[in-house]
Amino acid sequence: MGAIRTENRSGVLIISVDLPGEGVNKINEAVRLELEELMSELETNPQMLGAVLISSKPDNFIAGADIEEFVALKDCAQAEKLVRAGQALINRIEDLGKPVVAAINGACLGGGYEAALGCTYRIATTHPKTVLGLPEVQLGIIPAAGGCQRLPRLIGLRAALDIILTGKSVPARQAHRLGMVDEIVHPAILLDVAVDAAQRLHGGWKPKRRRASLTGIVLEKSWLGRSIMLRIARRQVRKKTHGHYPGPFAAIEAVECGLTRGIKEGLAFEADRFSQLAMGDVCRKLVQIFFATRALKKDDGVEGGEVTPRPVAKVGVVGAGFMGAGIASVAVSRARADVRFQESDWNRLGAGLATVRDSLKRRLKQRRITKYEYRELVSLVSGGVDWSGFRSMDLVIEAVYEDLGLKRDIFSQLEGVVGERCILASNTSTIPIATIADVTQRPDRVLGMHFFSPVERMPLLEVIVAEATAPWATATAVAFGKRLGKTVIVARDHPGFWVNRILSPYLVEAGRLIEEGIEIEALERSMVEFGFPVGPITLLDEVGLDVAFKASSVMQDAYGERMGPPRVLKHLVESGRLGRKTGQGFYRYKNGKRTSVDSSVYDHVAMYGRGSNSEADIEHRLVYSLLNEAARTYDEGVIRSPRDGDLGAIFGLGFPPFRGGPLRYLDSLGPSEAISVLDRLQEHYGERFTPAPILAEFANKAKRFYPD
Ligand code: NAI
Repeated sequence: MGAIRTENRSGVLIISVDLPGEGVNKINEAVRLELEELMSELETNPQMLGAVLISSKPDNFIAGADIEEFVALKDCAQAEKLVRAGQALINRIEDLGKPVVAAINGACLGGGYEAALGCTYRIATTHPKTVLGLPEVQLGIIPAAGGCQRLPRLIGLRAALDIILTGKSVPARQAHRLGMVDEIVHPAILLDVAVDAAQRLHGGWKPKRRRASLTGIVLEKSWLGRSIMLRIARRQVRKKTHGHYPGPFAAIEAVECGLTRGIKEGLAFEADRFSQLAMGDVCRKLVQIFFATRALKKDDGVEGGEVTPRPVAKVGVVGAGFMGAGIASVAVSRARADVRFQESDWNRLGAGLATVRDSLKRRLKQRRITKYEYRELVSLVSGGVDWSGFRSMDLVIEAVYEDLGLKRDIFSQLEGVVGERCILASNTSTIPIATIADVTQRPDRVLGMHFFSPVERMPLLEVIVAEATAPWATATAVAFGKRLGKTVIVARDHPGFWVNRILSPYLVEAGRLIEEGIEIEALERSMVEFGFPVGPITLLDEVGLDVAFKASSVMQDAYGERMGPPRVLKHLVESGRLGRKTGQGFYRYKNGKRTSVDSSVYDHVAMYGRGSNSEADIEHRLVYSLLNEAARTYDEGVIRSPRDGDLGAIFGLGFPPFRGGPLRYLDSLGPSEAISVLDRLQEHYGERFTPAPILAEFANKAKRFYPD
């Protein structure tokens, strides 16, 4: 069966794409060949006055080129051939001499948007799923079917670079404002408006496009203005990527080449760079993450599958503090759940309710919801200082202070108030779920839902399953997490679970380095250069030094000295410096903004004497404490697969994506290399660097975390 249906409406050929057996349309070879044929017909048939390119999928235009096809490429020559074929098709659309109107409802991304760029006119719908963009850099490649050429010509250099270099998806209204599309309409009239536009274009109508401002013209059309803009873009990319991602630089070059040497040479440049990038290691890692994320989305979180998650419409949140309010906000705004808080303090309850309202207001301001939806969503949140309303809950998430006694008290009360089918979850970051669950009669419905802060922004959710947790409860929590837009991994109930477990020795090592007199800036720089979004000290200040100290003590009880809180942390907490929230931690803050390193921190550590660590040593000590713990934790069966572990580290703590995650990175280093570095570290710094036993096993048996 073909992927395209056509219809002739008064001389306008309606080309409807509907890839059989797929939820979304992608441009693959078959689609390309069918489109080629239709172009031949349009070129030769004088009865045809133009065409409309549209999708028959309910909420998707064309999501991009087919990544499976792209992954199968064996060498640069094949990659270049593929790209050249795509370019040739879009050139044909552009040079047809007859109008082609792109009628866009739903995601129009990558190759899909590049095809739209080759059309004469673009109409998008107001459907919330209509987004446009060129996300190629997120996969380590560049838009190479003319995107780097046509977008700057259409919307100006500055705006185009912003779209291309971030790879972001732009909602329809904003895309219209930028000039990425010419018109926006309600989905119900999309086709009619598009056919009408094709007829009018055929009749000689010249659509008015937004004119650039005078400064825009001066900046963008002059050689000097352009080169300044490109230089700024390069500087920004360097600052953001630390040279680890070649894609954005190649995209800037492709744009520049096209603007200075013309579109033909620009296209040749795109094809050449694309093929090199497509064969590179960064691209391979990013594509692996893309596939892993996609597979995880389809995973219900339980072994053997086939467990139907129960519906969750009503959610109770115990504790309306920082995390509770964040969880309630996403439960309302993303899952449209009916949320009720239970608090012990009226003031905290009021503040929690206000946080949810503010979050909804932000969505209203960003035009993600309408005024009507805002009012409807606000009415879904309520709260009290007793348990009223909890009888009918489907899920209760507890987010009170990190205190075992308090949590056990809450769970034993909950048992008496909720119904039979309600799941009880704790958002604890360190306390074993089983020690909370054992106060209840029904530990099968108790689990952990470990959100990360800030809940609205952090993409990860760790669902923690204890021995007694029933698969239906796990599947329900996982399904609900996905409705909140989270990437959900399932981890077993060991102290620290997965993310905090592998993070702990890394943060502890950072504290030890400071105690040895290493400058905070050097330490931070080392990890940012490695590819983390922020250094470990910034992270400690953000998390809160008291929270980190407490968590580290719990981890020390469970795993011994290698996780023990560094003394510097204890000193700072005792002196009342708790990080950003108190305006002083390792750094100083003024009006919420970080000002400088607080050099008096060194007074607290002067007593320990200075060490002499080279830059390589700093990097190894920090990175290998995390890698080694990841290997050990994986070996203990805490996570279900290396895939979950790597995605958890990338989305939960910002492990550099281009390295593929800690386990993938260990694979690329090879177990023998990892052991030799750890052996050396162990010799210098002690037992905590003893290589995880699984590494020796892997080295002996030539095994890897990922067998492929
Ligand atoms: P928080 O101090 O902001 O909020 C705790 C709330 O619980 C307060 O509003 C308090 O009034 C309320 N509360 C205390 N006793 C109560 C009771 N008996 N009944 C009802 N409400 C009661 O604390 P935060 O940071 O929101 O942490 C909550 C939980 O989330 C902790 O278990 C923490 O370990 C965990 N967590 C925290 C993260 C963070 O970055 N802050 C990250 C991930 C998990």
